Amino acid sequence: MARVGLLTGGGDCPGLNALICAAVSRLEETGHHPVLLRDGFLSLLRAAEGAAVEYPVASLDRLRLPRTGGTVIGSSRTRLKKDLLVTAEAGIRKLRLDGLIAVGGDGSLKSAHRLASFLPVAAIPKTIDNDVMATEFSLGFQTAAQTAVDAVERIQDTAWSHGSAFLVEVMGRRSGFLTAAAGEACAVAGVIVPEKSWRVENLREALRPGAVVLVSEGAWQDEIGKPESERHLSGVVERLMSTLDGTLSFPLRGTVLGHTLRGGPPRAPDRLLAASFARHAVDSVGAGRSALVVSRNYRTTTVDIEEAISGRRFLSEQDLSELNVAVIGR
Ligand code: F6P
Repeated sequence: MARVGLLTGGGDCPGLNALICAAVSRLEETGHHPVLLRDGFLSLLRAAEGAAVEYPVASLDRLRLPRTGGTVIGSSRTRLKKDLLVTAEAGIRKLRLDGLIAVGGDGSLKSAHRLASFLPVAAIPKTIDNDVMATEFSLGFQTAAQTAVDAVERIQDTAWSHGSAFLVEVMGRRSGFLTAAAGEACAVAGVIVPEKSWRVENLREALRPGAVVLVSEGAWQDEIGKPESERHLSGVVERLMSTLDGTLSFPLRGTVLGHTLRGGPPRAPDRLLAASFARHAVDSVGAGRSALVVSRNYRTTTVDIEEAISGRRFLSEQDLSELNVAVIGR
C-alpha cells in the first residue's frame, strides 16, 4: 500500500471538494492510503519542521462535500522555488509519501513539476481563468462562467430598466476566457480582454443606454495607467469610471464581480470533470508515473507536466475572431 498525498494550491475554485472526495475514494479502492495535506505546498515545508499537516480523512463528509465550494483542506499561494526544494523533500520524507497529487494553476503546476524528481506526481489543472496550457478545461472554469452569466443577466435587467450603461469587471489575470464566455452567453454590448489592445474611445462608442460591457481585470492599457499592484489587478473598472466621468449623456455604473466568481457549488460539468480528473490522477500516480491530467475534446487524458508549464494559454486570434460578441479594440 502506498501513501499518496493530495493538496490544493493557489486560489480556490468550485469543484475542489468534489475532486478531493473522488480521489480519496479511488485511492482507497485501489489499495492506497490517502494523505490529505492542509494549505497547499506550505504543508510540505511545515511538515519538515514537524508540524501536523494532515487533514483527517475520516472527517470528510463524502455525501455532501462534493456539492460545496472552496477546498476543505485549505489552500495557499506558496510556491516551491528552487531554494525551498530541500525542505520540501524533507517534508515528503517525514510524511512518508510515495506519491503526490497536486491540484493547482500555473504556479502550483511548476511546483509540482519540481517535486517530480523526488516522487511520482500527478498534477491537476484548476483555475477559473482557464489559462493552463495543454488542457481545454481547467477545473472550476465552467462553474465560474455560469456564475458570471447569472450575475451579468441580473445587471442587464437593471441596465435595461434604468437606461444605464454598465462596466462589469470579471476576474482573469492574463487571459480573457471567462470574460469572453460570459460576454458571449449574455450577448453583451462588448468585451474587453487582455489579449487585445483597446482604446477608451472605442469603449465609449460601444456604450449606450442599457449596454453592458465586460472588462477582464487584467486588461489594463497604458492609456488608463497601470494597476496599483501587479499582485492584485482589480481596479480597471474603477479607473475607467473616473476616466469616463462626465463624458456620457446617460448614467454609467460599474460593478466588480471579483471573488464571487471563485466560490459556490460546482455545476454538473465541474463535478464530472473533478471525478474524471481524480480517477486519472490516482491511476497515474498508482502506476508510478508523473503526469499532468488534462481535458481534450471532452475526454480526460494525461500529458507531460512540462507541456503545461511551457507557457500560458490565451485566447488565440482565431478564438477572438470566432467570438459571437464584439471585442473592443482600437
Ligand atoms: O487565479 C485565479 C484568480 O481568481 C485570478 O482570476 C485573480 O486575478 C486571482 O485569482 C486573485 O487572487 P487573490 O484572491 O489571491 O487576490
